[in-house]
Amino acid sequence: MITEVEKKTFILSKDIVQQRVGDRTVTYHRLFGGLFFLDDAGQEVLQSFKNNKSVPESVLKGEAKNREEELVQQLIARRILLESMVSKVQHSTPQIDKKVNIIQLVLANACNFGCTYCFEGVQGKEMSVEDEVNKVEESRIIAKDSIKVNIENSMYASKERFEHQYSPQNRSMKPEDGVAYVESALRVARSEGVKEVMVQFFGGEPLLNWRTIKAVLERFGRGEDDEMTIHYSTVTNGSLITDEVSKIFSEYQVAVCVSVDSPNSPNRPLKNGDDSMPVVMKGLRKLQQYNNRVALNAALTSATWDDFNEGIVDLAVEVDAKEIGVVVDFDPTFYSEYGAENIVDRLWRVVRYGREKGVVLTGYWHQIFQVMLGFDAVSYRGFKNCSAKGAQFSIEPNGSVFSCKAGSTLLGNIRDETKILNEEPYLEHARLRRQNPDFCNGCEIEGFCGGLCLGPLEKKFDSIKAVEESACDFYRGITKKHIEAIEPYEVATFDLEPAR
Ligand SMILES: C[S@@+](CC[C@H](N)C(=O)[O-])C[C@H]1O[C@@H](n2cnc3c(N)ncnc32)[C@H](O)[C@@H]1O
Ligand code: SF4
Ligand code: SF4
Repeated sequence: MITEVEKKTFILSKDIVQQRVGDRTVTYHRLFGGLFFLDDAGQEVLQSFKNNKSVPESVLKGEAKNREEELVQQLIARRILLESMVSKVQHSTPQIDKKVNIIQLVLANACNFGCTYCFEGVQGKEMSVEDEVNKVEESRIIAKDSIKVNIENSMYASKERFEHQYSPQNRSMKPEDGVAYVESALRVARSEGVKEVMVQFFGGEPLLNWRTIKAVLERFGRGEDDEMTIHYSTVTNGSLITDEVSKIFSEYQVAVCVSVDSPNSPNRPLKNGDDSMPVVMKGLRKLQQYNNRVALNAALTSATWDDFNEGIVDLAVEVDAKEIGVVVDFDPTFYSEYGAENIVDRLWRVVRYGREKGVVLTGYWHQIFQVMLGFDAVSYRGFKNCSAKGAQFSIEPNGSVFSCKAGSTLLGNIRDETKILNEEPYLEHARLRRQNPDFCNGCEIEGFCGGLCLGPLEKKFDSIKAVEESACDFYRGITKKHIEAIEPYEVATFDLEPAR
């Protein structure tokens, strides 16, 4: 028997965010995204739902008679309009998603550079774990805000992390271990239905351990024998690129991120103090010669502030890099010292120049905007802007697993495979995949922003469930700049009025 469907009323969600751009209004849901443009007539339709308003059944069934009804359908699909009864229902805490999509291999805890701002601190030296732990505790007692991150004072905050950094037994990943670790990590990923992963070669300086990188590439290829699609990337200082490295990276389509802050930055010297730029340029040329996929990786920190400018874009053009990843300082004091507005302006100037030259600037800060463009993109991507919140295993040479090279919480040992996913340290990270700390409730970018890198949070607050407030205005400010710069043809645009 066909029953009569009740007439439904809808109301405007409290989670919408609107911003005037040109002669239209940009609109998105602050938790689900789905950003779009509305003209003034469309905006009137949207506002007419401030109080409960009924929607004809035919519209709900997908039969729109005109553009206004089509718009209402879109607004419902994007959760901008909520069914009045449903809007009052409290949503329960979502189930924890345990999908691991990124396998970071720490090939070497050693480096041939001595970058002044390096969050990993001095590498390859035997140092006292106790002294380092005491340093963290002391600075927490003296003043939380004075916590610094640089080569003298690493980002790390736990005894286990310092032990892993300084132990001679954890300096270099053996080829057979690298292969076994990836096999285990793939089993973990598959156990939760993951079909596509990124294996990232990291360090220290990963190319100090070429042997293991090569063994992993040769064993796994693109994942054909392992029921997995495998992508590869590496972050390297660019000083150890040979013909063999370039050729093999090209063959396996390894995305190569070469860290360079600016063509004349003094902050990335070789360990002996010499300028590293000549040898890095040689590496970049080699990669160019073999048609590698290259991105530059630049840090915008208090150390690089004066040198961070358009020069990095010119360099990218010169070496055929289409992308520059910009890591904005992990040091919380950077945001309070320089001020969010100044940091946004400095970065945005270079973003604009990059656009003129066909070079995209990306980074955690940019991913906030990207995730916001899609609707509920976190569901299929697996994380907001920080993969360490449940989507990543960072595997040390001895098999220990952290969430990231920047993190201090030990999640377990890769040999324990799926057991790691059910233990509290991993679950604590995975919970943050979607749900931010309470402090973020109501923030206009809550659904896309994971806050400051978890490493400094552990160092400053002894917890990953904290928010570094001084960085928030930077995240919101740079996102607003991106929104202001969108052209209507780049995203969904609902115009009810005919074009003038
Ligand atoms: C730690 S390095 C490891 C890989 C390799 N040795 C390299 O330099 O590319 C990874 C990236 O972190 C960046 N980095 C290091 N310390 C940082 C800090 N305090 N703030 C922001 N980025 C930082 C580096 O510039 C580099 O691009
Ligand atoms: S090259 Fe990379 S790991 Fe080495 S000191 Fe510089 S940032 Fe740190
Ligand atoms: S960390 Fe700050 S900017 Fe990011 S969602 Fe939370 S409150 Fe908003």
